[in-house]
Amino acid sequence: MLKRKVIIDCDPGIDDSLAILLAILSPELDVLGITTVSGNVTSDVGAKNTLHALQMCSSLDTPVYEGEKYPLVRELVTAQDTHGEDGIGENFYEDIKDINIRNNAVDFIIETLHKNENVSIIALGPLTNIAKALQKDKEAFNNMDEFISMGGAFRVEGNCSPVAEFNYWVDPHAANYVFQNLPKTIHMVGLDVTRKIVLTPNIIEFINRLDEKMAKYITDITRFYIDFHWKQEKVIGCVINDPLAVAYFIDRSLCSGFKSFVQVVEDGMAIGQTMVDVADFYKKEANCIVLDKVNEKRFMNMFLKRLFKDHESIIDLILGGI
Ligand code: RIB
Ligand code: CA
Repeated sequence: MLKRKVIIDCDPGIDDSLAILLAILSPELDVLGITTVSGNVTSDVGAKNTLHALQMCSSLDTPVYEGEKYPLVRELVTAQDTHGEDGIGENFYEDIKDINIRNNAVDFIIETLHKNENVSIIALGPLTNIAKALQKDKEAFNNMDEFISMGGAFRVEGNCSPVAEFNYWVDPHAANYVFQNLPKTIHMVGLDVTRKIVLTPNIIEFINRLDEKMAKYITDITRFYIDFHWKQEKVIGCVINDPLAVAYFIDRSLCSGFKSFVQVVEDGMAIGQTMVDVADFYKKEANCIVLDKVNEKRFMNMFLKRLFKDHESIIDLILGGI
């Protein structure tokens, strides 16, 4: 099988960490590098957290690049209330030593797009790195294959304002710049589909019978996130947004949607909102595929089978097959 080359741009972050596991443990992908951006936590903390996820899948040789620390215009607002002070559930793991974290994420993105054919980008955080790279060298993105972004919200309420999703609310100027200037269609994996991806206590109970080390890591980093979900949204479990963006990149049939012209509101009370011109008021060419339907059961089946290899049949038995 020809592996698809990807850059993962993220703000780990608990669900980002789960997405990194999925990407590294999926045979379809060749992860050329992981770039971090400030969002859930600052980009330097996100880079350290990335190493813990890579260590979990014995992949510390995957290069990690620390990226932009501040949004293009707004003051940085992080999400430690959701992800914990350390960004991964307040486990306060000891830093992984002797691994070189590089600090030129934007240049890495540009150089990688120039040097390789068919590199795709899966963006799981605010789009600050992507916007900076696009401003610096738009030509590089003509060489890019696909662009998947976890972010935005179409017909569902926001998660950091009534209308705005966190990634695009943190840096709306970067998000809108990317939406208006990227020379490729944006696959927007927004809250319309990710809210349906819930890691439940049942699933956590189940995976702890499959593989102690991986299950312990997932259990430990999600506990804080589950508590937040109960306090904030009276959800039992936690919404794991980012792994769906990775899974959709691998298996396009997991989600469906429609093409539309989308803008991101840069200021005012609706700051960060994705304005989806579904009625074509502006008569502008579609710049985005808005995903609004998902097969959450097939996602969870795929997610668990990648993270807990050799347990396919019991996963089918417990999750009810696909
Ligand atoms: O709104 C959810 C998104 O914001 C996820 O990517 C989460 O990790 C945060 O970055
Ligand atoms: Ca994220």
